Amino acid sequence: MNRSTRRELIGAAALGAAALSAPPALGRRLTSRRAGVGPGRFLDGVASGDPGPTSATFWSRLSTSRPRSGARLIVARDAGMRRVVATRVVPTGRSINGTLKTRVGRLKPYEEYFYIWESGNHVSDIGRVRTLPDPSSTQPLNIAFSSCQNYSHGYFSPHNAAAAEDLDLYIFLGDYIYAEGRRQQPDDPRADTFNANDLRSYRRKYRMYRTDEALRKLHQAHPTVHVWDDHEVENNYTDNKPAPSPLQRSAAYRAAFEWLPRRVTPSDRFRIYRSIQLGRTAEVFLLDERQYRTVDDNDRPVRLLGDEQYRWLVNGLRSSQATWKIVANSVVIAPMDYGGGPSMDSWGGYENTRTALLTELEQAGISNVVFASGDAHVYMQNLLASDQSVFASDPSHRPTAVEYVGGSVTSPAGQRSEAEVQARNPWNRQYNSYFHGYGHMALDGANLVTEFRASDITRPDGGSFAFERFTQPVGTNSPTREHLV
Ligand SMILES: [Fe+2]
Repeated sequence: MNRSTRRELIGAAALGAAALSAPPALGRRLTSRRAGVGPGRFLDGVASGDPGPTSATFWSRLSTSRPRSGARLIVARDAGMRRVVATRVVPTGRSINGTLKTRVGRLKPYEEYFYIWESGNHVSDIGRVRTLPDPSSTQPLNIAFSSCQNYSHGYFSPHNAAAAEDLDLYIFLGDYIYAEGRRQQPDDPRADTFNANDLRSYRRKYRMYRTDEALRKLHQAHPTVHVWDDHEVENNYTDNKPAPSPLQRSAAYRAAFEWLPRRVTPSDRFRIYRSIQLGRTAEVFLLDERQYRTVDDNDRPVRLLGDEQYRWLVNGLRSSQATWKIVANSVVIAPMDYGGGPSMDSWGGYENTRTALLTELEQAGISNVVFASGDAHVYMQNLLASDQSVFASDPSHRPTAVEYVGGSVTSPAGQRSEAEVQARNPWNRQYNSYFHGYGHMALDGANLVTEFRASDITRPDGGSFAFERFTQPVGTNSPTREHLV
């Protein structure tokens, strides 16, 4: 049995996957008549997000005809929901599309909790969440990441495999929805034919995506975080002429806040960049690579992150006490050239920001910075330096940082061979444009082990296998590669 299969089985057993799918036998009334709780059904699943050592955000959605209503959250230590640690009546209404979201504190570090939502006449599925380790903990960790789940192009079967693993955090790196629909093509297993461009249609889009059973299972099993890329608003929207209106952008951001289990920064309504401390083992820096992009007077891209976020990132990387500094990066940072020059819609179009950041890391001597990247629809492993050309003259040059691009859940890529890619991009160490799935990272004080996993996306229950493994010893910035198939 290979390592990932064993780990998946252990994960599935630890979760009690079967117990998660049905409402619990509570031995008491299943519905709530408390003040503030109305009738309605939980048809869109449950989710947890933005975990901390003593807190997490809990999510669901109440389908009801009432303009204003509410539901009750119950959090317990056991899947039978007997050892209750918190309950909370949470209001909702049409103004927030019936979504329910609340943050619960005073939980214990690195403990597993279960939760349900009750209405006047319905009980949700049981969700499961584990809080993060105490900030001083050196607990080994498992995280997974993916991007680019296009509903038309396949089933989100990679999420079934991720749901069955024992994960501490799942990171969505963008393109959680595709605002653009399309006429169904012969190869499309399912249809998404409408374009989202206002609040109503963005909400409808999230609702349709959540009908995917594997996506619901993933949210039910693990705490998630999400950074958006372009398709949560519109394809390449920062560079569009004309760009989508401020009204359209804020409708898209608003729907993403309603439908994902993310925390709100009260003073900064649509802020999504922040860092998450996973004990001393890792710190995850979530970046917003869309909202703050700037261009110069001639419309040339200048700054990818905006000044404030850039300073926040550099200060955060400098002061981080964590062994591994994981950057949740929605667009690729290595300036990949496939014959037409670097893509202008990634860090490649913002050469100054890329060079400045990597120069900071070099000058400050910050090791173990790892970019987990989305957007490209391919799996890649790239070495990074402020001057990428050093890898052409000296293939054994010590990299400044490392990038892992975790494929796409379903979105297709132009197909190229690894040899073809490496001929133009000497910093590339692996490339696969054929498979779909996600990336998995096992982190401890000695190593970061990254595996690329692939699934059959033509079937809702498509199986999963690991096909590449990279072992990166601490302090080296140099992974070694193993082919697993
Ligand atoms: Fe994408």
